[in-house]
Amino acid sequence: MLKEIFLSSAMALAFVPTSYAQLDILAQLAGKKYFGTATDNPELTNTSYVAQLGNTLDFHQLTPANSMKWENTEPERGVFTFAGGDQIVQQAQKHNQLMRGHNCVWHNQLASWVTDGNFDNATLLSIVENHCGTLVGHYKGQIVSWDVLNEIFNDDGTFRQSVFFNTTGTAYIATALRAARKADPKAKLYINDFNIEGSGAKSTALANLVKQLKADKVPIDGIGVQSHMIVGEIPSTMKDNLQMFADLGVEVAITELDVRMTLPETPALLEQQKKDYTTIIQACKEVKGCIGVTVWDWTDKFSWVPGTFAGQGAACPWDENFKKKPAYLGIVEGWLGL
Ligand code: XIL
Repeated sequence: MLKEIFLSSAMALAFVPTSYAQLDILAQLAGKKYFGTATDNPELTNTSYVAQLGNTLDFHQLTPANSMKWENTEPERGVFTFAGGDQIVQQAQKHNQLMRGHNCVWHNQLASWVTDGNFDNATLLSIVENHCGTLVGHYKGQIVSWDVLNEIFNDDGTFRQSVFFNTTGTAYIATALRAARKADPKAKLYINDFNIEGSGAKSTALANLVKQLKADKVPIDGIGVQSHMIVGEIPSTMKDNLQMFADLGVEVAITELDVRMTLPETPALLEQQKKDYTTIIQACKEVKGCIGVTVWDWTDKFSWVPGTFAGQGAACPWDENFKKKPAYLGIVEGWLGL
């Protein structure tokens, strides 16, 4: 019944585009799946931002954009700092929002003592084990799923030449996952990556790794599909690819969604962006094993895109003034299957 009411109101809204500014329904419409957003510590000083971040009608879930990364949690060997991560967890707990942990092992935003340490195989494996175990253990019981491994593949499906791969081969992968499992047996453990939205060499390589990990009895529970997309370039194979991942017997989540455009934004680009959001949400909706979607911050004011991709931006569902964009309605229509 609820669905029919939303359905008819959203269809009406399609003809009265300004009225959806009154709705707060992204999380409500997600049904059994979650809808959430990344957030970052400096943003928590903006009271209007924090008010919307805690709006559980839109967001069920938070991910820290930076504060749980290695450079912030173990900046010196054996010295752990959790204040930033703790702040985001407290923010989520205030509103009963789920927390995703991000991340244990990544080649970026890695503490330089790890990259420059010239550690041998056994030492680096023990460093990975200690880092993942301590980090995940600190948040035991407070985080539903962890991106234990982030961006470990190249686009051609070969393993990325990080300090971890170069020193240990693929051994660090199992070490990280086992340490995380031991530290919090209930947390779901993910491998997270970009350019795995559609089918291709990278998606195939990740699927093969998951099969191998399962065969080796290494704990693996989920695949995180980052989904940093470009307007008009959503792969037509996205839904099938999410299904292919789910068929491996793991959870699938869209973990870092945004849809960027070359600036300046135009009504036509915003309209295409709305369609793109619908396509992505619908792909998750239609794949049973896709358990939720996280946008990589909800407002263009705090999006990482302009700082990383020169000349691009406007990637989020809300604009810089916290006003909902057509993309917001695109998400509504995606959940409704319109
Ligand atoms: C980004 C953050 O949003 C930025 O604030 C930071 O400067 C760089 O990292 N893939 C990931 C995320 O897994 O951790 C990245 O987050 C975006 C790309």
